[in-house]
Amino acid sequence: MATTNLSQGAGIIGAAVPRIDGPLKTSGTAKYAVDHNFSNLAHAVAVQSTIGKGRIRSLDVSAAEKTPGVVLVLHHGNLQNVYRTFPHQQDGSMAETRPPFDDDKIYYWGQYVALVVAETLEQARAGAQAVRVEYDVETPDVRTDLGADFDGRRESSWKRGDPDKALTEAPVVIDETYVTPVETHNPMEMHGTVAVWDGEGFTLYDSSQGVVGHRTVMSEVLGVPRENLRTISRFVGSGFGGKLSPWPQATLAAAAARVLNRPVKFSVDRRMMFSSVGHRPRTQQRIRLGATPDGKLTAIRHDFLSETSLLDDFVEHCGEQTPFLYSCPNLEVTTGMVRRSVGTPAPMRGPGAVPGLFALESAMNELAIKLKMDPVELRLKNDADRDEGKNLPFSSRHLKECYQTGAEKIGWKNRTPEVGSMRRNGKVIGMGVGGASWGAARIPCTATFELCPNGRVCVRCATQDIGTGTYTLFAQIAHEKTGVPLDRIDVFLGDSNLPDGPTSGGSMVTSAILPAAAAAANQAVGRLLNVAALTPGSPFHGAHPDSLTVADGRVVTKQGQPQVVGVSYNGGAGLTANGLPFEDVLRMANLSGITATGKTFPSFEDPKTKGYSMHSFGAHFAEVEWDPEIAHLRVSRIFSIFDCGRIINTKAGANQILGAAVMGLGMSLFEETRYDSRTAQPINGNFADYLVPTCADLPDLDVTFLDYPDLLVNEYGARGIGEIGMAGVAPAITDAVYHATGVRVRALPVRIEDLLKSKVIEV
Ligand code: MOS
Repeated sequence: MATTNLSQGAGIIGAAVPRIDGPLKTSGTAKYAVDHNFSNLAHAVAVQSTIGKGRIRSLDVSAAEKTPGVVLVLHHGNLQNVYRTFPHQQDGSMAETRPPFDDDKIYYWGQYVALVVAETLEQARAGAQAVRVEYDVETPDVRTDLGADFDGRRESSWKRGDPDKALTEAPVVIDETYVTPVETHNPMEMHGTVAVWDGEGFTLYDSSQGVVGHRTVMSEVLGVPRENLRTISRFVGSGFGGKLSPWPQATLAAAAARVLNRPVKFSVDRRMMFSSVGHRPRTQQRIRLGATPDGKLTAIRHDFLSETSLLDDFVEHCGEQTPFLYSCPNLEVTTGMVRRSVGTPAPMRGPGAVPGLFALESAMNELAIKLKMDPVELRLKNDADRDEGKNLPFSSRHLKECYQTGAEKIGWKNRTPEVGSMRRNGKVIGMGVGGASWGAARIPCTATFELCPNGRVCVRCATQDIGTGTYTLFAQIAHEKTGVPLDRIDVFLGDSNLPDGPTSGGSMVTSAILPAAAAAANQAVGRLLNVAALTPGSPFHGAHPDSLTVADGRVVTKQGQPQVVGVSYNGGAGLTANGLPFEDVLRMANLSGITATGKTFPSFEDPKTKGYSMHSFGAHFAEVEWDPEIAHLRVSRIFSIFDCGRIINTKAGANQILGAAVMGLGMSLFEETRYDSRTAQPINGNFADYLVPTCADLPDLDVTFLDYPDLLVNEYGARGIGEIGMAGVAPAITDAVYHATGVRVRALPVRIEDLLKSKVIEV
């Protein structure tokens, strides 16, 4: 950190700022949920169902209870009094709508059927192995064809014009079905909870994307007032949506802690990640496009099915981007739900948009081929200049420029459209494109800002940093407003006792926290300037506060400037070099600090923003290399061009898109959770068999931000960027694969078996 040269003051907004929490993470100092240990800590291990559907006939815990070190065995027969109430989707919900051990029914393989708590982890494991469970087994349903048993009940979420008539009349039609498999969230840090009961309430150290929502839900499940429930998640090794809501391990750890009156740790292991804590559900999406011969869209139908569990009505909203991405008079999006014997799904990075845009953008690429039209040109031709779904103008949309910039960067003009027509270094080259979009909003947030007597600045907010750079963002605002160097700024997040902040979900934290943080800082600085002007003995005594400002953490006089309202630090022009450190001003006034609170006014209550459709946009251009002699495919380059408003931290921002592009590569070529049809067990539920991209699989990745501020979202013009980068990668890669090999893959991931059908066999 000390060696980094950063722009000072307002220049820090939009700079490439290294994470302020980076050294804590790389040195192993940062404490994640299960890093919290207590002297009398007990360890919990769950017994998981070995069948995919049925009922527990008998559960014998006598041997487990006699296992050395075992202090408690919980199961459906003895947990009745642990829950007091159960939440009904108020301001948060469990990820699974039934609490664990609710009854003796089994809905999916891996469901927790008992919890063994012991003095050590090893003893708990031994105890768990000693639990004897007998089941009445039914046949689970993990069929991959979602259409096979679909009951036909669809919900129409968007409709305009008469798409069916337009499809009948369209001169050119695409009608294809696209399939995305179950994908499992695999953040580096697995789920885990350490629960501490103090006789009246709980402290839960949980790996969470939302400490405030987590507190709400757990207080209801456990029947303690919110005031008596504190959730802490100071560092999170990411979540990708899997940690938006609490999972049963949090409930069970807390229940056991209360029964035992001692802290209990429940750490989910990598194998359990595949059964018990959510996944992106399987989707099957039929896309029909109608177009004129010169490439104008006349109809879009997007009819999708998504899988859910027997416990929940989770829907993967694949059609959210379809109504506004293109200009088209006739459109319908319909949803259907299909149940399978699997754990409850969860949002996963870009939920809905990522599988949905794989389908829509793949269909656009197929339409371009049918029209003998360039796929970039097809998109430019059908670009929408207003949201035709909501019939609203966009707050800011520069998708065309994303395509134009990307085309230039990858050298699209040299692309010859015929399959297998491009060669380089003895390999066949393919190029493809895919578009992306994700919604933006300004959700509520409260933050406090404190000027401390020791010359440090403290910012506090009950949001959390899940690896995205939220700590650093708060520090950037504090520095912008005061000029205090980053190493004198302390940011406190990830604790529900702090002022309520947003869940790290929906890519909405950045846009939510900026106004609150800025308002709190402005207010604190304003009060500091008043104090400086009013305190006898202060060199500014008697000055008008408006003639003062703060620079480099010092109160200084504005010079040669008219009296300006507002107090934001404006880059130093005309400021005196000396001034007084703010802590000296506090001392002169006998103040132990100045604290101010800022709030973000949500966009859904703001008449100014209600009349606009707010989204981020982007495009990926992918290049693959195909070596037919050994049937070897590699993604060689991905250019990602994104319009996400103003980027506050270009380093953390680019990291978001890079990471998402890597996940998109995983989705395209590797990831698929497969279930055994007899037991519904995830058969590749481990890191040996569930493939994710390694460094060796990575192409050259290149991220460009257009950086147009969207001032309707907030005064900084920043929209969120966490999820969008994963959308559009898969259609770009599968189109590049088609371009190189002639094989069109509509069911992800692309497999070697698919590519062996290629007729491009010579280089
Ligand atoms: Mo995002 S899937 O809302 O964490």
